[in-house]
Amino acid sequence: MKDRPIGIFDSGVGGLTVYRALHDRLPNERFVYLGDTARVPYGTKSLETVERYAIENSLFLASLGIKALVVACNTASALALPQIRQRIGLDVVGVIGPGARKAVEVTKGNSEPKIGVIATEATVASNAYFEAIRRASGSASVLQAACPLFVPLAEENWISEPETFTIARKHLAPIIEFEPDALVLGCTHYPILRDVIGQIVGESVKLIDSGEAAADEVASMLADRGLASDETIEGPRRLCDDLDHFYVTDAADRFARVAERFLGSPPSRIEAVEVYGGDGLGIGG
Ligand code: DGL
Repeated sequence: MKDRPIGIFDSGVGGLTVYRALHDRLPNERFVYLGDTARVPYGTKSLETVERYAIENSLFLASLGIKALVVACNTASALALPQIRQRIGLDVVGVIGPGARKAVEVTKGNSEPKIGVIATEATVASNAYFEAIRRASGSASVLQAACPLFVPLAEENWISEPETFTIARKHLAPIIEFEPDALVLGCTHYPILRDVIGQIVGESVKLIDSGEAAADEVASMLADRGLASDETIEGPRRLCDDLDHFYVTDAADRFARVAERFLGSPPSRIEAVEVYGGDGLGIGG
């Protein structure tokens, strides 16, 4: 079991920020990543649809023999984590709980911490971050804001264009007014825009990357469950090297291009698959 890879899924390419965090934190693990590029975005879809997609993706990865699953997509974590856990019978880590707990941890010096959350429309509407933060801290006040235009800006690598700052100021206006102590980057793409967001909300606001927080919790979970790999992978590991395998449900070329932008190198092993219908078993294509 320990030798098996860790599965990661996202609605598309954004979850590569979570893959990067996991890869940095767990250099002796191998990963299989599924990007549901045929059905992205999830952030504007209904609960029923996101739930169905999330279960199909999870069953596909489970069919590959993974030892644990990371739901990198904030929207899928917010809307479908219990259903995924029920269906796949493996350890599952999402990004909402870890991001929420980290935000509470970094603000625990304040008696009444103020925590902002930015995420997709569906994640905000689900209140999953709000509830997870309030579970971790009864005294925290929370303000959530959807920032839908951040996803295409990140994918196009518009990380310093003046238009990006204009849009970011508009999306972040309610957050700026709220004056949070910490701000959760509650969407896979937002760490790509971290510098822009940081400049707009100001240095005093602690930015929480949910993917990094999830990577820490995955490391603890593997240790607690005796699932950490015994292997020592020699030499510096490169992101997207051939130890990790990437699957997409459409447009593998575009995925590879955006992956190169996000991570500095395109995946060595990438394959198009179908994950729909039946029991979620993929068909190589
Ligand atoms: N991966 C999604 C998330 O983290 C963002 C992109 C989408 O809407 O599918 O919520």
